[in-house]
Amino acid sequence: MNDKQLVALQAAKYVKSGMLVGLGTGSTANYFIEELARRQRDEGLKINTVASSYVSEEYAKSLYLPTVTFDSVHTIDLYVDGADEITPDMILLKGRGSDLVKEKLLAKAATQFIVVADASKLVNHIGQNFSIPIEVIPFAWQLAKKSLEALSGVGHLRPNEAKDDFWMTSHGSYVLDMKFDKNLSVRDLNTMLNNVPGVVEHGIFLDLADATLIAENGAVIEHWI
Ligand code: 5RP
Repeated sequence: MNDKQLVALQAAKYVKSGMLVGLGTGSTANYFIEELARRQRDEGLKINTVASSYVSEEYAKSLYLPTVTFDSVHTIDLYVDGADEITPDMILLKGRGSDLVKEKLLAKAATQFIVVADASKLVNHIGQNFSIPIEVIPFAWQLAKKSLEALSGVGHLRPNEAKDDFWMTSHGSYVLDMKFDKNLSVRDLNTMLNNVPGVVEHGIFLDLADATLIAENGAVIEHWI
């Protein structure tokens, strides 16, 4: 069993019958979905799920997990998802995929948000390994980029896989991948990005996680706030 699988199995232990569970997106989240399906089959676990992406929803359905539509949800019991970077104070960078908007909505709506990852995701500060993904309204991307550059942002629109057009998220946004002045605190940066017209959402998840489950070499370390 690999480390991502290990943390996913550990997180699934927090799921109880009767819960509405938010499903994250990515390889670690997929292991979590698989474990929920196993518990439903083998242990009679009775839950509903809501997915943060089309891919996760289809995967859950293929494993016979019941799903509810995103727009029917106003609160969820538990959200479990991976991350691209995790700081010691549980600030996250997410959104290397295309589902930032739904991921942040579920993280905010959840009574508990558990982050699952292997130790490669641990960083000292946000932006250490990746640029910050910033979803922008397509027609506003030039204006939003100019505003972001005035905040020290340097970066470009993410290309699609074929490199013949721009990447479009499932929400219909373009993504600006940007680096910012290292002296800016992540809290200030978060506030600034929230205030840029044309920005739909961004990858900094601040004060949203309740716990991190990190696996390294076959052992899981849990941190709860
Ligand atoms: C998608 C995400 C993922 O959770 C993140 O990229 C981690 O993925 P993985 O579990 O495959 O390492 O934020 O937007």
